[in-house]
Amino acid sequence: MLVLQNIDKSFGATRAVQDVTLDAAPGSVLGLVGENGAGKSTLMKIAGGIIRPDRGSVSLDGAAVSGRDARGMISRGIASVFQELTLVRNLTVAENMGILSPPTRIWGSIDRTGLEDECRLALERYHVSARPESQVGDLPLGLQQMLEIVRAVRRRPRVLLLDEATAALGAAEVAWLSHILAEERARGAIILFISHRWDEILAFCQRVAIMRNGHLVEVSAVEEISHDQAVEQMTGRRFGATFPPKRPARIEPLLEVETLESAALHDVTFRVAEGEILGIGGLVGQGQDALLRSLFGAHRLRHGTIRLSGRSYRPRSPRDAIRHRIAYVPQERKAEGLLLHKSLAINLSLAILQKLTGLGGLIQRRKERAIAREAIDLLKIRASSEADLVGSLSGGNQQKILLQKWLLTEPSLVLLNDVTRGVDIGTKIQIYEIIADLAAKGIGVILYSTDAHELVELAHRVLVMVDGRLSAELMGKNLSAEAIVHASLGTKAFDAAMV
Ligand SMILES: Nc1ncnc2c1ncn2[C@@H]1O[C@H](COP(=O)(O)OP(=O)(O)OP(=O)(O)O)[C@@H](O)[C@H]1O
Ligand SMILES: [Mg+2]
Repeated sequence: MLVLQNIDKSFGATRAVQDVTLDAAPGSVLGLVGENGAGKSTLMKIAGGIIRPDRGSVSLDGAAVSGRDARGMISRGIASVFQELTLVRNLTVAENMGILSPPTRIWGSIDRTGLEDECRLALERYHVSARPESQVGDLPLGLQQMLEIVRAVRRRPRVLLLDEATAALGAAEVAWLSHILAEERARGAIILFISHRWDEILAFCQRVAIMRNGHLVEVSAVEEISHDQAVEQMTGRRFGATFPPKRPARIEPLLEVETLESAALHDVTFRVAEGEILGIGGLVGQGQDALLRSLFGAHRLRHGTIRLSGRSYRPRSPRDAIRHRIAYVPQERKAEGLLLHKSLAINLSLAILQKLTGLGGLIQRRKERAIAREAIDLLKIRASSEADLVGSLSGGNQQKILLQKWLLTEPSLVLLNDVTRGVDIGTKIQIYEIIADLAAKGIGVILYSTDAHELVELAHRVLVMVDGRLSAELMGKNLSAEAIVHASLGTKAFDAAMV
């Protein structure tokens, strides 16, 4: 039994967790839900002994948990998958998997072949087809997340803590995780699971704990609470329709892409009209990243032509793409998108520095602050001021900053890479409205999402990618979540679908 008692934790003036008492039993999964900034990650880190509470106690099977270093936690049988990935991008898969306990030779040096063999066995055992010698930073985010999960479960922990471990996973990979969790439960593990997707809470958890503003507001058996009730508990509000109505796109073509070829793309041809929302689906890592990045000048093309508003467009760099009024909101905010140790205001102004630079080349700080305050209001960002460091915000609030940073550039084409990853339901609705408004203004939107419902409800058309090719185009009555999943799997067997 894992028991948390009267836990308080503040960061400066922010009371992140207040008087929370909660327990989790062996052989079961306890879900933890709440809006961005509600205190879920903080509570989970306290449960794992990674941060110390200001007040209260944590115990595992009767013994106090209070360690602070990762090695100590593992010896106590607590393994975590954090919201922000912790794999080291410039090490290989094998090196990352063995980082805390690498096999060593008698004289103490690391046995590289042993490391790779051991890693290969673990990947096979968990049906992940990645190569031990691949560099982690080159792998798609979804696959990195799967590796983090394998790294945690293969130690057969007593307590498994999963903080938005499914946020970059699509339907097939979530099914993969459900098999693993079933095994872990059967083994008697105590599992805590944070997610913003209610269907995952229903599928994985027996009980769900709801947090709001640092408080635990309810703990319930999953079958005793409906999604609407849970959302009301999380937000204190009721929500009507989640998705804005689709408005017809215009006829004028905005983007025309023909026969793109690259290391990751094969014969990709499609068009986007002004005001059109084009969805991109498929399993993780099928070339969706490469496609978006190629349009942003960040992925090298071997062949193919691109026209933007009728003119030839061949971006050589992101800077070039930005000049052509293209915005790209990346999936991995930590590595690609945000400066965590800089303020919210500075992060927001990074892509529009030219507009903020006055005579004499000085940045107009007052204007910068005004823009940041407006963003905090508009997107209801949970921060105490525009001077807050982005790294101190909760994951979902960081995601909002990343989106707003690019919208400020007044783009004509917006490339969105899984933009609602880790975002709570209320904020998702806001982001959906923002996307629909962009389209209504005639802006073209290309939307890659791991959430099939999001694609169905927002996009005019959805292209499904398999192995770097477009495998299906779905629209009208053919556009459904089932059709997307079906087309994603292509002719592959389920095991092969594990990337
Ligand atoms: N290291 C830190 N320094 C300062 N403030 C922090 C720190 N960690 C968390 N906070 C603040 O504590 C509050 C709770 O954050 P937490 O990350 O626990 O939220 P969360 O429920 O996990 O949200 P999300 O769904 O966005 O991940 C937020 O207001 C956040 O800004
Ligand atoms: Mg969190």
